[in-house]
Amino acid sequence: MIGIFDSGVGGMTVARAIETLCPGFPLIYLGDLARSPYGSKSPAMITEYSHRNTEFLLRQGAKLIVIACNSAASTASTFLRSHYAHTIVDVISPAVNQAAKVSTTGRIGVIGTRATINSGLYEQRLQDARPGCKVYSQACPLLVPLVEEGWLKRRETKMIVKHYLRPLRDKQIDTLILGCTHYPLLKNIISPRIGRKIHIIDSSVAVALHLQSLLEKDDKLRTELYDPQTPSRFFVSDIPSPVNALAAAIFGRTVLLEKTDV
Ligand code: DGL
Repeated sequence: MIGIFDSGVGGMTVARAIETLCPGFPLIYLGDLARSPYGSKSPAMITEYSHRNTEFLLRQGAKLIVIACNSAASTASTFLRSHYAHTIVDVISPAVNQAAKVSTTGRIGVIGTRATINSGLYEQRLQDARPGCKVYSQACPLLVPLVEEGWLKRRETKMIVKHYLRPLRDKQIDTLILGCTHYPLLKNIISPRIGRKIHIIDSSVAVALHLQSLLEKDDKLRTELYDPQTPSRFFVSDIPSPVNALAAAIFGRTVLLEKTDV
């Protein structure tokens, strides 16, 4: 099984994209809603949670781990890769590579949680992928709670998005990375406010495309993970009231969320 974790429901945008692009590969998802949001926690705490989440997924039979949370990927991916021999895929590099490819001017914006932006990992990897590019980052700490609350079309959300994007508009970026797995749910609000001509990189689609090509190239991994008879399972460490509706909005169908302790 492909193990996927996030602090909450945002990673379901990644699970959905993987389900679409990699049919027949069962998923085991963990949303650590009891400890969410991660984006405002310290790197040590996020690493500790990410470690526990990975242990849980491996106990459930995951053979590959997708860190479907930018906050966790930007602070804990180095630790997880040094600690486990399993293939660990994170949301950052696939989005960075796509942005580096599509940007014409090399002026790239990144939005994410405080933990993601403070880690500086997007800047670092963008400089590696496209030396000399100009990266403009903006932390948007209010967006995750708005998404978790289901405020996807509210006037207040539109105003806050506009406020966060203003500094990036002034920098004349031509590409914007949605560096948080919650933000694809706000894409319709973000796109007109940053400018419709700007390339928007959705890290959930980027990671699913990356995984698809990994599975195409690696026979052993593909054989190990392909199992169309086994259904995907979705675990959460808490079930606050809006979560079922949000999960259904992401998947376009009702999803059974199983409560677990991590
Ligand atoms: N979905 C997480 C991310 O991609 C953010 C949510 C949180 O802060 O817990 O960074």
